[in-house]
Amino acid sequence: MSEAVRRAAAELRRGRLVAFPTETVYGLGADASSREAIARLYEVKGRPGDHPVIVHFTDAATAFKWASEVPEAAHKLAAGFWPGPLTLILERASTVGDFVTGGQDTVGLRVPVHPLALELLAEFGGGLAAPSANRFGRVSPTTAQHVREDLGDDVDMVLDGGPCGVGIESTIIDLSRGKAVLLRPGGISTAQLESVLGEPVGTPDSAAPRVSGSLAAHYAPRTPARLVAAAGIESEIARQGAEAAVLAFGAPDARVDFWVRMPRDPVQYAQKLYAALRELDSSGAKVLLIESPPDTPVWRAVLDRLRRAARD
Ligand code: TXA
Ligand code: MG
Repeated sequence: MSEAVRRAAAELRRGRLVAFPTETVYGLGADASSREAIARLYEVKGRPGDHPVIVHFTDAATAFKWASEVPEAAHKLAAGFWPGPLTLILERASTVGDFVTGGQDTVGLRVPVHPLALELLAEFGGGLAAPSANRFGRVSPTTAQHVREDLGDDVDMVLDGGPCGVGIESTIIDLSRGKAVLLRPGGISTAQLESVLGEPVGTPDSAAPRVSGSLAAHYAPRTPARLVAAAGIESEIARQGAEAAVLAFGAPDARVDFWVRMPRDPVQYAQKLYAALRELDSSGAKVLLIESPPDTPVWRAVLDRLRRAARD
């Protein structure tokens, strides 16, 4: 147990906010059973009070104590993917404060696999609420440096575990209403989930719980961004030229000053995505042109984030 982890857990017990690495993105941790700590968390994130946060645990047995009912599907998914980048929405136990659930009668539970996150959770000993450690609506942080740039002194401590391996947020599955519904695509694909569940995963209808990550303009850079089909990139560059910064698969075009080349593999792409968006955002360009990956299942989670980033 490192001294930093011991100190972080002590801070959390005093109601302070500690950012920590997970395999997906950095989380802004707070004691999930403390109304005061969670109030401060919402204030720092700038998050509306009716948007719930995910609570993190060391293991499934501890996590499930926060649910009033644990369906068979939850046991299957936990056995298959925890610890890992999956969040389960279940009916909340009566002991769970409505301040972490945004007033809803469900709670989001996750067991991360990052060793530093697990160490911190073990030392802290309870549930840690941890939304992504950025201001509401902005691009999630995948390094400790991103967290410091975004939150400055508003975060009491940042545990540095290097860059996150997955790079985009966890997959969220709602199991609170009978059948499994995908609320947010992420680190675990629908195909992986379905193979463990042995049944199809549905898509949300209007009665599904609110997910802030599903708002149209979320994960957004400050600079206007446009998602452009591969075939249209060339003509967009001809039109925008020096005004644009480009995120694309191919080699840089001499007409563009700021160009980030992305991997053709979706897993590697996801890992680099948020750092790349931040770089583009601080390039001074007037518009960000993002070459769209193909619209195939393996690109689903990445495309979801790109569509929200490119709100204009
Ligand atoms: O990968 C992740 O999930 C990261 C790391 C830090 O664990 N966390 C994360 O948290 O992305 P956040 O708060 O930025 O996004 C959590 C999403 C939100 O869209 C929220 O609305 C949804 O989870 N959520 C949490 N509890 C929920 C609930 N009870 N019902 C429906 N959605 C819920
Ligand atoms: Mg977030």
